[in-house]
Amino acid sequence: MAYADYKAKKFQLSGLEGISDKTLDMHFGLYEGYVKNTNLLMEQISAMSRKKQASGQDPAYAELTRRLGFEFGGMVLHEYYFENLAPKGKGSPSGNFKKAVDESFDGFENWQQAFSAVGSMRGVGWAILYQDPATERLTNHWIALHQDGVPSGFKPLLVMDVWEHAFLLDYKPAERGKYINAFFSNVNWDAVQRRLTNPAAVRAVA
Ligand SMILES: [Fe+2]
Repeated sequence: MAYADYKAKKFQLSGLEGISDKTLDMHFGLYEGYVKNTNLLMEQISAMSRKKQASGQDPAYAELTRRLGFEFGGMVLHEYYFENLAPKGKGSPSGNFKKAVDESFDGFENWQQAFSAVGSMRGVGWAILYQDPATERLTNHWIALHQDGVPSGFKPLLVMDVWEHAFLLDYKPAERGKYINAFFSNVNWDAVQRRLTNPAAVRAVA
């Protein structure tokens, strides 16, 4: 069976609070680059294996394989990120999401402060609230680049990009905290709730 290439999904996010359309346009372009490179990488790697050139001793094969995590991670996390945003936010933290946050972090405000703290860590990466499907407990994680620190099989519930490109057109490099506040005024809580309720990790795909 032949699988279709990934397609970049379109997100209608114009009019976010504190995150400009100019930032979004640039960010969508970067996301599309990850989709393009993921497809390219998959093709290059499968061409090598079809020709029986797959070898751990071959620097080309090894490097292409190493980049899989980076390009796939960049594509997938941006889809989660854009999907959990909505102009001026949507819904509110409620129902079983609110309950899970309360139980895991001793209250919503504690969680929000802890999540923002993860987002303000030095370095480029992502702050992600995950659910361990085995225990249903929620934890905040720092993902360096797009792939380092991902707990396999956990469900991403809320994904926040804290690479500088996510806010540099709107804020100074030292003002990441302002971007994090802006992020929180645009969270699509309905999408977060949907992810929690869905038995599998799901994301928007084209
Ligand atoms: Fe990004």
